Amino acid sequence: MPAEEWTTAEHVDRYLDRADEFPHRAEGESVLLEQVPDDARRILDLGTGDGRLLALLRVDRPELIGVGLDFSEPMLGAARERFGGDERIELVEHDMSGPLPQLGSFDAVVSSFAIHHLEHERKRSLYGEIFELLGPGGVFANLEHVASPTRRLHLAFFEAIGEPIENEDPSDRTIDVESQLGWLRSAGFDDVDCYWKWLEMALLVGFKPARAQ
Ligand SMILES: C[S@@+](CC[C@H](N)C(=O)[O-])C[C@H]1O[C@@H](n2cnc3c(N)ncnc32)[C@H](O)[C@@H]1O
Repeated sequence: MPAEEWTTAEHVDRYLDRADEFPHRAEGESVLLEQVPDDARRILDLGTGDGRLLALLRVDRPELIGVGLDFSEPMLGAARERFGGDERIELVEHDMSGPLPQLGSFDAVVSSFAIHHLEHERKRSLYGEIFELLGPGGVFANLEHVASPTRRLHLAFFEAIGEPIENEDPSDRTIDVESQLGWLRSAGFDDVDCYWKWLEMALLVGFKPARAQ
């Protein structure tokens, strides 16, 4: 089973206890928020966890209709607790290693620190599915754990986030920024770039062209 550790309450609790402590995370999140238009109405968060990104997005977009997708029951439980039956937020249990279910069309698709758990081929095909889910002009913004170019930099990242390297998630399948930017361009996204980066944390963004090309 992929990313099995995320289905255990112990792993989930440990992550959620530390979620605010990752250095520079708020910077990456604030650049992501800047790329999502204030009038974006339907927003999909892939690997939503406890709904952290949807909660941040709706501070300035109180009317948003959010869909948070995750395969972890303990995470979805935490998201249910956060949103307390809010009708504007739908939580969907789904394993992204398989094709996404029918979810309708979105103005924005976001994700944070989730897609790197998938195998590379699946990341790539998922980027194509996301392109299809977006309406014209829609944005995909993925704040992601990416690979370091060297082992030394990989160890330095873990030291910088205060995490022993032994605690690395067994399901991490990180890959470099450039490969992912290439996949996004091949999927049809425009204005693709890494909009923010600190060591192994990077914000990858692309826009669906406003008109089909
Ligand atoms: C590091 S957490 C990030 C959670 C949240 N996005 C955040 O920023 O705090 C990774 C999330 O990805 C989810 N995840 C990992 N693999 C998944 C898969 N194959 N399908 C759906 N969700 C997955 C986990 O359950 C977990 O909630």
